[in-house]
Amino acid sequence: MVILHSNGELDQWLAAAPGPVHFVPTMGGLHRGHQQLIRAACGPGARVLVSVFVNPTQFAAGEDFTTYPRHADGDGQKAGAAGADAIWFPAVADIYDDAKAGHAKAGPQLKPSLIRTLCGPCRPGHFEGVLMVMERLLERVRPALVAMGEKDWQQLTVLRHCLPAFYEGRCRLLPVPVVREEDGLPHSSRNSRLSPAQRRQAALLPQALGNAEAAVQGGERRATVLEQLVRAPLESAGLPVDYVQLVNPLTLQPCPHLDGVAMLGVAAHVGPARLLDHKFLLSRKPIIAIDGPAGTGKSTVTRLLAGRLGLLHLDTGAMYRAVAWLMLERQQPIRPDGTLQQLLDAMELRLVWGDHGQQVICINGVDVSDAIRLPRITATVPRVAALPQVRQVLTRQQRAFGQQGGLVSEGRDMGTAVFPQAELKVYLTATAAERARRRAADMTQRGQAPPPLATLEAQIAERDHLDRTRTEAPLRPAEDGVVVATDDISVEQVVDKLEELFRQRVSYEGWPGGHH
Ligand code: DC
Repeated sequence: MVILHSNGELDQWLAAAPGPVHFVPTMGGLHRGHQQLIRAACGPGARVLVSVFVNPTQFAAGEDFTTYPRHADGDGQKAGAAGADAIWFPAVADIYDDAKAGHAKAGPQLKPSLIRTLCGPCRPGHFEGVLMVMERLLERVRPALVAMGEKDWQQLTVLRHCLPAFYEGRCRLLPVPVVREEDGLPHSSRNSRLSPAQRRQAALLPQALGNAEAAVQGGERRATVLEQLVRAPLESAGLPVDYVQLVNPLTLQPCPHLDGVAMLGVAAHVGPARLLDHKFLLSRKPIIAIDGPAGTGKSTVTRLLAGRLGLLHLDTGAMYRAVAWLMLERQQPIRPDGTLQQLLDAMELRLVWGDHGQQVICINGVDVSDAIRLPRITATVPRVAALPQVRQVLTRQQRAFGQQGGLVSEGRDMGTAVFPQAELKVYLTATAAERARRRAADMTQRGQAPPPLATLEAQIAERDHLDRTRTEAPLRPAEDGVVVATDDISVEQVVDKLEELFRQRVSYEGWPGGHH
């Protein structure tokens, strides 16, 4: 492993080989958590660079800048053992060459809402300093990927939303799960400053967070109560608490009531060290809502994403199709009337999931999983789906599935009407021509002969029009949903993108997910 000091040495190393650089910025005092970041940053064809820089601009007056642990020799050895190709120890002047104090050039704009909670109020200027140093480090290194720990969740969130290289997509920010010691305390460089007795006290942080989790399992949802369950044991042990706060993990806004997934963060002082920890609290398993018109790759994307995250794939279009099948079977006129209500009241719609997560759908005891894909159903279902009586019955059943969560649910009104509380709401789009091409390929795969593309495009346009203009739960993106255009990217890339969006809202510790 190469050891670099000046900017000149760094530039030589960067120029010495082509290919991407994956970057792990640290403040040194490397431990197993950092080593996990380095291992996560390793990838085929990429060189991994670790930087060690105790950044003066992120410490306020009176904080521990001078006493922050510095162990250059140990750092080099640990970085090499974890697979780093080079470790860079810039001097302050290498980073802040434009001014002694480093304040001459303003950093990127912080979103004020992201620092109104958690560490923001306790550490004025801290996140400005973090943003400033990261912008400069990225300018010098120009990495393709940066690995950062989920332990400092607020830092991760601030950088993701405020650093142009990340939100403009020039560099990928890879979040890495927290690594904990045996007693649950997250690895942190500052742990090395604790005496054995203080080190034992520090374990109270994860223990206290565990109290809150147990209370959630017992039905507690009030933030004030959950926060007090963490604060009380720390204060009883004489540890000064900076904050205990339940927040929305994406927006970092306070969450008065746990509904779904929230993050409970704590900062407390143990001897010379200010320690952070957090726990993701779940009142149910996560829900992802995926909407969009036909032919955007919704089904494939939803199936793959559900597999990756260990969630169930709920295809609500199949439910509308099953009702359409039943109405055609019974020669039920497709309009709202009394006999329709009778049919719906007597209907038994059952969903079961096979070993590979595939949804099997039975209506009144008949397995219609294949029959609902026939063109005559596809042609009829938009009119069926526009009937308020049908929507009411199916929406109720879908919401019942959602009570426990654990779903990636696809349809037309998932984020807007059925699961407005979903952790992630996505709206997939694609041009009509592209969707027609995909529909044709899909039909061919099912052994059906597709009509000419122009005809398909016209049919798709007509179905979309019906879905978008119906009065009941029309197809449209949720206000707080993310629109993802799928034209020029592969299915895998769409799934990667959605997984990344999910991980901005739910940590690996909070929901470890399935297999890759
Ligand atoms: O996704 P799909 O083609 O299987 O959907 C079949 C029809 O059902 C389509 O016209 C839209 C409608 N639908 C709906 O209105 N609401 C849903 N949640 C899912 C599907």
